[in-house]
Amino acid sequence: MKRMPAISRLWWRRPEDTNRAELSPGPSYHGTWDAVARFAAEIRASNFMAEMIRRRDGYGSEGVMGALDCATLYGLTRWLRPAAIVESGGYIGMSSAFILKALADEKLTAAKLYSIELSQECDQGALIPDELRSVPGGFVPMRGKIEDFLKRNALPSSVDMFLHDSSHSYRHMLWEFRQFWPRLRDGGLLVSHDVQMNAAFPEFVAKTYAHDKNTGRRDAQRTSHYEWGRWGYIGFAIKKG
Ligand SMILES: C[S@@+](CC[C@H](N)C(=O)[O-])C[C@H]1O[C@@H](n2cnc3c(N)ncnc32)[C@H](O)[C@@H]1O
Repeated sequence: MKRMPAISRLWWRRPEDTNRAELSPGPSYHGTWDAVARFAAEIRASNFMAEMIRRRDGYGSEGVMGALDCATLYGLTRWLRPAAIVESGGYIGMSSAFILKALADEKLTAAKLYSIELSQECDQGALIPDELRSVPGGFVPMRGKIEDFLKRNALPSSVDMFLHDSSHSYRHMLWEFRQFWPRLRDGGLLVSHDVQMNAAFPEFVAKTYAHDKNTGRRDAQRTSHYEWGRWGYIGFAIKKG
């Protein structure tokens, strides 16, 4: 599959600079907010959302991602158009389903979602509709601890997107962010669920900033993210390589 270069994709995704706050070198990500909000609104009103909520409620909604966050995750995935994604805490697959739906809607037939789940008991990916699950090579369920997969070098060394949704302890979240940030390519997305649980996500993002000593203003050259934000319980940061 031929992939478009990151910058040209940004331009055709970008309706207008509605939020320009400062002039900075490098590509502009201001249009990201509008694009993600548009995709999220589209999926919230869709039959797919209604069907996923029906499945989730039939299975038991304990521990799975809520509708607002699923819509944001869908929007971020459509906006990025990733080829390689890793998610920690795949569980029964609510988040996985929305990532796979975004890949399908963008016609990214060669994209792969590596979904890691520790529990041997849960029916991993059970909520994912068959038509999304059966795309050859698209959904890659991996059973075990994310720590062990990393130790064994069993995950791609370069990824476009990482979603954290495993153990939400401060220590583990920070550890996953630190493990996967270096694996993200320039323009890649770090996404975390449940950022409200502790200070791991804001602390991680704070470390990606550099400021001018004299003015105190953000130094865009040395800052290692392009944009970041929080929507509902989802946090995201766009890596500057
Ligand atoms: C909040 S649930 C994930 C929900 C899922 N993303 C969804 O939307 O359906 C968290 C899952 O992370 C798994 N988990 C916890 N620690 C883990 C680890 N170190 N490696 C892999 N999975 C882990 C748990 O077994 C649990 O099923």
